Amino acid sequence: MKIKAVLERVKPWFHSYVDSFPQTDADLKINFELKRDHTARVGEEIRFIADRLKLDPHETALAEICALLHDVGRFEQYHKYRTFMDPVSEDHGELGLKIIDRYNLLKGLNEADRSLVRETVANHNKRMIDPNLERRVRFFTRMIRDADKLDIWNVVINYYKAEVKNEAVKLGLSLANTISDKVMADLMAGKMADKEDFRTLNDFKMNQMAWVYDLNFNCSLERVRERCYLQQIFASMDGTIPGVTAFYCRAQSFVYGNGFFA
Ligand SMILES: [Fe+2]
Repeated sequence: MKIKAVLERVKPWFHSYVDSFPQTDADLKINFELKRDHTARVGEEIRFIADRLKLDPHETALAEICALLHDVGRFEQYHKYRTFMDPVSEDHGELGLKIIDRYNLLKGLNEADRSLVRETVANHNKRMIDPNLERRVRFFTRMIRDADKLDIWNVVINYYKAEVKNEAVKLGLSLANTISDKVMADLMAGKMADKEDFRTLNDFKMNQMAWVYDLNFNCSLERVRERCYLQQIFASMDGTIPGVTAFYCRAQSFVYGNGFFA
């Protein structure tokens, strides 16, 4: 089976799968649509990256399948636990694998592509990419991680600006005007913070600024510049919280630097 045919089969499956959950209340409906729309936009982001990297049609379709399925675990997660917080529910990447297998979604792909999609879904939301991943799998995992971040920035910034807020986006974090010590220590050491350590919404925002260091392609950094993502996150914070302004300036000088990637 040609890969395009797999993509064209999985796309309508995705929508009927999302629709198959009983939409019993407004909160479920809002959060299902949030993730359905996010998935569509991650598809657009990954097509942009694939285009910039001059991927061939097979690889581009494969990247689109990764995008379509990367968050497929989110629906069962929210339906079952009413949260998007992995630490208090389930890892949504691993849950996605169960759904991929349950519905035999990768039928028609060759063995290498099947395992590539599974590995990218499992690794898209980890703090770090599994260092043992094979080179081609690592490359696709990097694309999905960039595409995902490019849209999550958009989702969280909309949340920060919204007058009526969808509380699921802030993952139940406190609105205290502080950054947790462990989060600050990790970020200052040049590492991503661990989501298990997030206590305040400000922790989450600081880590979102730090995501620029975790991007893999220059074209992704270009989109961060065009869309002024860091400025908008910083504008939603209190710049007098110790460390916030210094960290923002450091991240911005990285974004507007000469580009660190191939
Ligand atoms: Fe995602």
